[in-house]
Amino acid sequence: MPKEQKSRHLKKEAVAIPSPPDNVMHKDDPRQCHFWVKRKRQVNELNERFIRYCHLPTKIGNNYCGEHLASDPNPTTRERIPCPYDKSHYLIINTVYKDELEKHLAQKCNSRPRPNPPYFSLDVNCTLSYPSKFAEEEKSLVLDHEVLKEKKEIITNSKHVIQQASLLGHMERLKLLQPDGCFIEFGCGKGELSYFTKFAIKDKDDEVRFLLIDRKNTCGK
Ligand SMILES: C[S@@+](CC[C@H](N)C(=O)[O-])C[C@H]1O[C@@H](n2cnc3c(N)ncnc32)[C@H](O)[C@@H]1O
Ligand SMILES: [Zn+2]
Ligand SMILES: [Zn+2]
Repeated sequence: MPKEQKSRHLKKEAVAIPSPPDNVMHKDDPRQCHFWVKRKRQVNELNERFIRYCHLPTKIGNNYCGEHLASDPNPTTRERIPCPYDKSHYLIINTVYKDELEKHLAQKCNSRPRPNPPYFSLDVNCTLSYPSKFAEEEKSLVLDHEVLKEKKEIITNSKHVIQQASLLGHMERLKLLQPDGCFIEFGCGKGELSYFTKFAIKDKDDEVRFLLIDRKNTCGK
């Protein structure tokens, strides 16, 4: 549409801005956000493309919903602080009202620690009592395995491959790399450790049993 015709078309649809919803300070009254929501086709007298207020409710004491709190021209003086339980994402910092922190941590926060489920049994997969002399020694011993030699030369960020090589080195040292074994990789991701274990045992006939377990199936795993 030509520019002139387009602006005439927009003017026809112009609407007056109604006054914002009246938010009374009573807990049972409905409260509505004061944020104007943009829409493509309709405009006000100033040719601004706004048509209605946001439909989300607000908290008592606020005129803007949580989503639009940053647009409030008269922001509340209540201080918000980062949630101590919710530091998982480095880009999004989840904040909470400082004066509600205790309630948030005890009842509301989705990242708050929960009691262990009934089937949880601490160290159920540990066959050695901890701490034991054996476990202490093993912890500081970084070993290597030849099946990861080639990968080590290609990979620039080698932390992961050093760990895989060391785990295989430990398995070899403890004589665990046997074809009649069953290898369970907890938190297998792409299953790389099992993949290299198969090479380390030289399992050409697919005789060795592998059980791969992961809580997620994302990221091409
Ligand atoms: C570093 S990655 C996998 C590395 C993999 N073992 C390898 O050598 O290539 C860790 C994996 O553990 C999984 N994981 C973490 N906690 C888990 C849990 N409680 N139960 C099952 N899988 C878990 C994650 O989803 C992730 O895929
Ligand atoms: Zn809103
Ligand atoms: Zn939280």
